[in-house]
Amino acid sequence: MTDEVVTLPERIPHHVAIIMDGNGRWAKARGLPRIAGHRAGVENLRRILRASSEFGIKILTIYAFSTENWGRPEAEVRGLMNILETVIDRELDQLHANGVQLRHIGEIEGLSPMLQRKVRKAVDLTRNNAQLILNIAFNYGGRQEIIRAIQQIVRDGIPADEIDDTLIDYYLYTAGQPDPDLVVRTAGEMRLSNFLLWQASYAEYYSTPVYWPDFDREELLKAIASFTQRERRFGLVPQP
Ligand code: IPE
Ligand code: IPE
Ligand code: MG
Repeated sequence: MTDEVVTLPERIPHHVAIIMDGNGRWAKARGLPRIAGHRAGVENLRRILRASSEFGIKILTIYAFSTENWGRPEAEVRGLMNILETVIDRELDQLHANGVQLRHIGEIEGLSPMLQRKVRKAVDLTRNNAQLILNIAFNYGGRQEIIRAIQQIVRDGIPADEIDDTLIDYYLYTAGQPDPDLVVRTAGEMRLSNFLLWQASYAEYYSTPVYWPDFDREELLKAIASFTQRERRFGLVPQP
């Protein structure tokens, strides 16, 4: 726990989704290999998880590996797979003890059988935890998710006029969860990169130049403070 004195913003987003970007640039700026940036990114995740719990965020969704990231050099892809495995091996007990409910979003079948087993075990072990839900988007792509949902809807023989928002929600990886209120992207880019295309339709968007390994508790507070000042209109007129 830090000893900084802060007054938390009065309105805390229930569901925060983070595009953890900039690990490679963080490493490059230090003359380190990209994978060192990914390791630093994992260290940072621990910090942000702690802060999220402290602030009362109930759902945290993190973009860790996209369906497009397979196109990176083989060694980097392998490194990222190893990192997920190591995180589960080393952190699962602590996450469980802290009441974190782990969920995976993305195409799990694309991972190695060993990694699939570990992910499933972690999800299963923590399924009744209620302090915070951590959705790990790994081998996740928003388009892939929507295609998969449509395929399943067709397979289930759902009549066309029964297809609505609620039904689509039910077929997504995030079924049963509220949409993100705030999407944060680190490292300055102004794009979604195939993240939560359906779910983020009315999320507030926050982009900061800070690289992910440097995005600390104070930076998260800045993002929340920015969110607090927004007026969410959802297509309506301003509230009187
Ligand atoms: C984000 O950092 C992590 C992943 C996409 C896996 P990057 O690796 O994209 O870092 P930059 O964007 O090259 O700096
Ligand atoms: C988005 O970052 C994916 C993750 C953070 C896992 P990328 O670095 O892959 O996205 P682009 O290439 O800048 O769009
Ligand atoms: Mg990037």
